[in-house]
Amino acid sequence: MSDDAPFLRACRRQPVPHTPIWVMRQAGRYLPEYRAVRERFSFLELCKTPEAACEVTVQPIDRLGVDAAILFADILLVLEPLQLGLVFSPGDGPSLENPIRRPEDVGRMPRIDVGDALAYVFETVGLVRSALAGRVPLIGFAGAPFTLAAYAIEGGGSRNYLATKRFLLEYPDAWNDLMARLVDVTVEYLTHQVRAGAQALQLFDSWVGHLAPDDYRSAVLPHMKTLFSRLPPTVPVIHFGTGTAGIIEAMAEAGGDVVGLDWRITLSEGWRRVGYDRAVQGNLDPTILFAPFPIIRSKVRALLEEAAGRPGHIANLGHGVLPGTPVDGVRCLVDAVHEFSGDT
Ligand code: CP3
Repeated sequence: MSDDAPFLRACRRQPVPHTPIWVMRQAGRYLPEYRAVRERFSFLELCKTPEAACEVTVQPIDRLGVDAAILFADILLVLEPLQLGLVFSPGDGPSLENPIRRPEDVGRMPRIDVGDALAYVFETVGLVRSALAGRVPLIGFAGAPFTLAAYAIEGGGSRNYLATKRFLLEYPDAWNDLMARLVDVTVEYLTHQVRAGAQALQLFDSWVGHLAPDDYRSAVLPHMKTLFSRLPPTVPVIHFGTGTAGIIEAMAEAGGDVVGLDWRITLSEGWRRVGYDRAVQGNLDPTILFAPFPIIRSKVRALLEEAAGRPGHIANLGHGVLPGTPVDGVRCLVDAVHEFSGDT
């Protein structure tokens, strides 16, 4: 029944009654009902309280009419049991107090039982499936190994990823060991999410576009191929990155049923280069949601023209919705995608 949902059909490049849309970071601070729940918990507590995480996962379904839910969690949660000292401090984003600096730090990470260490996530998945009652499919997710490694090595966000790039060039063996460990953990993590009820998966390689194409090919692509080959074959997988115009063919080669694009490339060029044997997701600039409705609607029209009616387009932003975005702007986006692509 929900196998027939437009979102899942589009992932498989089957015809749909309207172009499905969901929005990255659709559960978040721009929503007043999210902020109300968040007043009662720190961010990590919210992730670790399945009832509350379920509530904020479902909020945007009711409020926006999107075609998929995404599990409320964070890509960095897996780094906590790896003992990297994950902290979300209000205001300045996530940091890792015990980052990887030397090759020997990689071997110091414990081997973990993901089913146990992240049990709260799988419990949330189960609760969300019940709460959604088949209305829309649930997307599970994980950070891709490069993006996780970048946080682990930098100790937080970064402007130029100097420490990560030095590490991968200077210590290729330790880098490959780190990536292989992150692949193992990610496969286990996503497999548990699917067992718990996730109906699609997204791998967030948010910062991989910072790499030169030859470094992507040598330091990341082989690990991504291994990762994709080990994921459950039963659910579609979205492979997302930003700033990837220089490596998009290599990302498609690595794997994924759906390739995520951001706004620095046109959807038509991105899709042509990814190949029409894949679906694509994206790719509006999140800042357009601050514009007056007629502008948002014209951007949606242009986006759908780029997709040219080809089956296998999932509408989305090219990256997460920004804090402070007007909720009505997001609603306008969702409605316009449905209106302009629908048969009603
Ligand atoms: O998309 C969703 O609605 C599902 C939940 C989700 C969150 N983070 C919740 C969150 C998802 C899929 C993520 C993924 C994530 N987390 C990524 C990949 C996507 C991307 O944006 O590139 C990254 C890089 C992170 C790491 C992270 N978590 C950062 C950099 C930050 C701080 C920046 C910010 O927006 O505050 C977080 C915190 C975070 N994760 C928030 C939310 C709703 C804000 C926390 C709060 O309520 O204060």
